[in-house]
Amino acid sequence: MTPDSLKREAAARALDFVEPGMRLGLGTGSTAKHFVELLGERVRGGLDVLGVPTSEATRADAAAAGIRLSTLDDTPALDLTVDGADEIAPDLSVIKGGGGALLREKIVAAASARMIVIADESKWVEMLGRFPLPVEVVPFGLAPTRLAVEAAAEAVGCPGPARLRRTREGHAFVTDGGHLILDLMLGRIPQPAALAARLAAVPGVVEHGLFLGLVSVAIIAGASGIRIENV
Ligand code: A5P
Repeated sequence: MTPDSLKREAAARALDFVEPGMRLGLGTGSTAKHFVELLGERVRGGLDVLGVPTSEATRADAAAAGIRLSTLDDTPALDLTVDGADEIAPDLSVIKGGGGALLREKIVAAASARMIVIADESKWVEMLGRFPLPVEVVPFGLAPTRLAVEAAAEAVGCPGPARLRRTREGHAFVTDGGHLILDLMLGRIPQPAALAARLAAVPGVVEHGLFLGLVSVAIIAGASGIRIENV
């Protein structure tokens, strides 16, 4: 079993939660991409759903798969969002944004009655923080914003540097919304809610990758099978 085949298994299991007529948030990343492909197969088989993508990449994939698409402006309330995650803790708090789509992902998740995360078992952790926490920021005033982001983490007991995310070519990574990403290298986040509140209070921070209280089901695929965690 490769990690990619486990991602596809988790994505396939999420289809069981999809019902005809649903308005669906479509996540971003390699695991969510499997879900979009598999959903497309069902749609071509006659399933009628409406999708709201969380990124331009997912919009392109979903359109290619034949999924009928909408926007949050036209469809402001969704039934279900299915998305990947970078880390999932036992209380189903998660880190997202490794692919840089955290802002739209969080807006779409918050507009959804339910959110399901799908992942291979490597994403399951006892405590969040080994994965660098993405923080989306506006380009103006980057230097003081970075200092304030680092101070926010230190104030809640998890000091670490905030690194500007770059592309492979060495340019600053720019999100679909035209913002930058600071990756906070913390190692462990003992108080996610306190950190989330501190980060949200920093001028210049648009959003952060801590998704707290948004996920109700996690589908985790591992070598010994699929497990479903609920809160
Ligand atoms: C995109 O910004 C992210 O939140 C992804 O959902 C997350 O990084 C998981 O991606 P993979 O499914 O590719 O691991």
